[in-house]
Amino acid sequence: MGKTRVAFVGTGGRSMTHIERLVKFPDVELVGFMDIRPERAEQKRAFAGQGKAYGDYIEMLDDAKPEVLYICVPPAEHGAIEFEAIARGIHLFIEKPMALGLELAERIQNAAREKKIITCIGFQDRYLDLVEQCREWMQGKKIGLLDGAWVGGLPGVYWYPAYATCGGQIVEQNIHIFDMLRNLFGEAAKVYCAGGRGIIERDGYDLHDYSSAVITMQSGIVATLHTGCYRDTESKFPNGMRIHCADCTIEYDLRNHVVYHSQFETISRAWKSDWQTEMNRTFINAIQTGDTSKIRSPYEDAIKTLRLTLACNESLQTGLPVEL
Ligand SMILES: NC(=O)c1ccc[n+]([C@@H]2O[C@H](COP(=O)([O-])OP(=O)(O)OC[C@H]3O[C@@H](n4cnc5c(N)ncnc54)[C@H](O)[C@@H]3O)[C@@H](O)[C@H]2O)c1
Repeated sequence: MGKTRVAFVGTGGRSMTHIERLVKFPDVELVGFMDIRPERAEQKRAFAGQGKAYGDYIEMLDDAKPEVLYICVPPAEHGAIEFEAIARGIHLFIEKPMALGLELAERIQNAAREKKIITCIGFQDRYLDLVEQCREWMQGKKIGLLDGAWVGGLPGVYWYPAYATCGGQIVEQNIHIFDMLRNLFGEAAKVYCAGGRGIIERDGYDLHDYSSAVITMQSGIVATLHTGCYRDTESKFPNGMRIHCADCTIEYDLRNHVVYHSQFETISRAWKSDWQTEMNRTFINAIQTGDTSKIRSPYEDAIKTLRLTLACNESLQTGLPVEL
């Protein structure tokens, strides 16, 4: 079998996480890098030491003929790129959030399904051993409540400050913890989300500075997830999730460690394997074998997390709960 031919559209910060790993896979060839800022495409090409940089993705698809396309563009830029790749039968790794509206995401999903395109969405935490450790510790436990948080500063990327280009912090950033909620606890039934503004003052900024979503899961568990981008110093309280069981608390410190606290013992575990490598390797294996069963976040699953976060935005706007 020849090497798997991979290209990139959008070669900013996030693309590098994937490129750094893919260059180490001996069975992958990076054939193209495209960005509307061509210097960024050239920079990634130079780092990889292979492939060609492009300023137009159609030209890249015609010329480099990738079998796989990584789409790492800002949230509002999805659509045409996916449809063009799908029409050509190119498999897709797509960064979250995959769209800013459900209607577009559903059209992409349907088009991909029709053409039997293999998809993987960048929900990296799905491959994190710490999340599996939480699942193991939760076995047989009685759980009523959990709370989680992603409260930090305003990310520096140019498209972040506006809802129109970013989707808001729940959809763009805390979506990882909302996805972990679904991954561990199943589907949500209802969400109510309250938020506020007024801390961050900046031209062109229209996001909520903070919000809190109360999510009733179909199982009856109630989750409260806090989201904030107004911190201007590091907090000593880590982001992540705390799962309140009847006889213990399981604490997940975002991408760092997990702790099991009970009356009698405290057990801490740090992560062991590089989950970003695991995610990329799983996707490439699926392309090479046609067996997609190990991909933990295909489009048709990830879209349910997108729906949940968009429901939070709807609740933020209307002030009303949203049934899912
Ligand atoms: N899975 C994760 O953990 C994770 C982490 C960070 C970012 N992300 C996601 O990855 C995506 C990219 O984020 P980033 O941090 O790399 O942003 P970035 O701004 O650093 O990079 C985006 C790149 O896309 C380019 N671009 C914009 N519009 C384009 C278009 N129409 N065609 C081609 N290129 C275009 C920009 O010039 C830029 O270089 C976002 O959706 C973000 O939410 C995911």
